Amino acid sequence: MNLKKMAGFRAGKEVKDGQIIGLGTGSTTHYFIESLGMRIKEEEIQVMGIPTSYQSFLLAKQWKIPVTSLEEHDIDIAVDGADEIDPDLNLIKGGGAAHTLEKIVDYAACEFIVIADETKLVSELGTFPVPLEIISQSTKPVFSALKDMGADPEIRMAKFKDGPVISDNGNFIVDANFYEINNPIQLEKDLNSIPGVVENGIFSQMVDKVILGTSEGIKILK
Ligand code: A5P
Repeated sequence: MNLKKMAGFRAGKEVKDGQIIGLGTGSTTHYFIESLGMRIKEEEIQVMGIPTSYQSFLLAKQWKIPVTSLEEHDIDIAVDGADEIDPDLNLIKGGGAAHTLEKIVDYAACEFIVIADETKLVSELGTFPVPLEIISQSTKPVFSALKDMGADPEIRMAKFKDGPVISDNGNFIVDANFYEINNPIQLEKDLNSIPGVVENGIFSQMVDKVILGTSEGIKILK
C-alpha cells in the first residue's frame, strides 16, 4: 500500500471547481498534483495552481494544470507535505529545500491541508533537523547564533553536484539539529530573528487539517 499516494489522492477530492490551489513540494504532493491533473482531464474542473517550487511548477505543467501567482489570485486551499507533524499539528518542513515559498503560499491560503504518511507523526518535533534558508555570506554568524541556541548546524551538501545545495531562490540551506523542540511557536520566531536567515522550516499553528495515509486507511487530524 502506497500511503503517500493514498493521502495525495484523498486530498485531490477536496478541491472544488473554480478554486485556486497552492501546490506544495515533495514526494507526497507529487501524488496530489497528479490527482488534480487527472480531475482536470476527466471531470473538466477549472482550477489554477500556485506552485511552491520549480518541482511543483514542472509537475503542474506536466499535468496541464494552469498556473498563476500570488500577485494575481488569492489561494483557496494549499496542499503540502511535511517532514514531522506533532500532536498540535505544528510541522517541520523543508526536507526538499522549498520551505520559504511553501510558507508564503501555505500561510496565504484560506485553508491549509497537510498530506503525509503515518511515519511523519511524532510526539515532539526535533528528530528531523530544522531546515533554514540563509544568505550564503551569513553562514558564520548564523552558525554561531544557532550553536548559542543549543543546535548543531550543518550546511546541506548536494548529492549530484559538488558543493552545497542551492535553493530555488539562490541561497544556502542549513540543517539545524535541535534534537528536541519544546516550544515550536517561539523557536519559529527566534530563528527568523537571526540576521541572514531568510526563512525556517517550522510551521507552527497554521494547519487546518492533516490527511494521513495509514496502514488502516485514511485518518483525518484537526
Ligand atoms: C519540501 O521542502 C518539504 O517541505 C516537503 O514538503 C517535505 O519534505 C515532505 O516531503 P515528502 O512528501 O517527500 O515526504
